[in-house]
Amino acid sequence: MSARVSKGNRISEMATAREEPEAGSSELLLVKEFDVSAQGYRVRRIVGHGSFGTVASAVHEPTEKKVAIKKLTGIFDHGVRDSRRAVREIHFLKLFDHVNIIKLLDVLEPPSWDPDEMRELYLVLEYMQSDLARVCRSTTTLGKDHVGYIGYQILCGLQYMHSANVFHRDLKPSNILVNSSCKIKIADFGLARGLHEGVETPSAEQLTEYVVTRWYRAPEILLCHKTYDYAVDMWSLGCILVELFTRKALFKGSNHLEQLDLILNTFGIPESIDLSDPDVKAFVTSRAYPPEKKCLDWSMYIPGAPEELVDLVSKLLVFDPSARLTASEALRHPFFKKFYVESFVRQTSIAITKFDYEFEKLTRTKDSIADLIFREVLYFRPGVLQEKFKTEKRLKKKKFHRRAFTFSEGRRRSII
Ligand SMILES: Nc1ncnc2c1ncn2[C@@H]1O[C@H](COP(=O)(O)OP(=O)(O)OP(=O)(O)O)[C@@H](O)[C@H]1O
Ligand SMILES: [Mg+2]
Repeated sequence: MSARVSKGNRISEMATAREEPEAGSSELLLVKEFDVSAQGYRVRRIVGHGSFGTVASAVHEPTEKKVAIKKLTGIFDHGVRDSRRAVREIHFLKLFDHVNIIKLLDVLEPPSWDPDEMRELYLVLEYMQSDLARVCRSTTTLGKDHVGYIGYQILCGLQYMHSANVFHRDLKPSNILVNSSCKIKIADFGLARGLHEGVETPSAEQLTEYVVTRWYRAPEILLCHKTYDYAVDMWSLGCILVELFTRKALFKGSNHLEQLDLILNTFGIPESIDLSDPDVKAFVTSRAYPPEKKCLDWSMYIPGAPEELVDLVSKLLVFDPSARLTASEALRHPFFKKFYVESFVRQTSIAITKFDYEFEKLTRTKDSIADLIFREVLYFRPGVLQEKFKTEKRLKKKKFHRRAFTFSEGRRRSII
């Protein structure tokens, strides 16, 4: 990355350090459950838990390179919901090549290609020392330059991702990885979506699946709008920048409606508010919200912040998504002047490979998803082709036996 990091911009080692697990601890048990040694990886310790996976640090034995392994479990246990998440994460990460987006290095071969038996999947990622949620909880001081440098890198990643017609939909501090030299990588693409200009917009059903961790959810999602786009990431970024500076989440709703309540009390009710969802309309009209506040004083919400940061936040946290700054506009904001390197931004702003919307249409059934997973693993491990043939042969045999049994059963019944 071409922007420089001065010594003062480093994030304390305390906030990024991870200790080795103690023998016999529950963590050690989780480490042992990572079944990856046969494929060349030695797991060292658990470094993160999410709603969808457990992440461990590991070493790739042939090269001694440190990596992170994300273990996705029970991928077909909840219909296609979780398996779709898994396949999206692989698909998007494979598509990207940007210094501020985590790299997917390998996908391990699952124990079986039969969707009924394919219980876990291991993604091998670049290793990062920490994430922004952990840094926010630590005692490390984050000054104006930290926030500037972190925000600048997130925006470089977002500009690139949006240029590939992809929006992240789950930007939050724990999904932004960081190392002690303050280098940033956006991670966790399980909820990411693709959009295509001029092509069918994803249906309401597709877009209203669980999206964006509540505190970072844009108002258009909370109001259940049928379509939304890249601007939801820009809202999340606004919330993250405030949180980095104040070390407190900005809108901390404990449920969906409370989240909406907090935002509407802050912004008032915009004249143009779209209340097409009847439940949301009933909720909003049952409350006495103030009229739209045309000029919010954001300095009240980020006490002590420099003027440029307050101005930037006021242009990201805009109720109307079409009036929010885009990633490339935000990158050119004076708050990032110190870090902005025109040549770097120009070279890395456009993704060569764009998202192919056909992909989403293939993630509807268990079998089609298992097939997509196979294709994605094949990209990293061409040798899996033979194994898949063996499984298919076995499955055909299994089906044949099942058919043969039903036939003879039927015949037996008709004879009786
Ligand atoms: N490449 C990595 N290097 C180091 N730590 C990582 C890496 N990827 C993830 N982690 C850690 O693991 C945590 C969980 O990872 P991730 O967000 O990908 O999982 P998830 O189950 O999809 O999470 P969520 O609950 O957000 O849906 C992260 O917050 C981070 O602390
Ligand atoms: Mg996450």
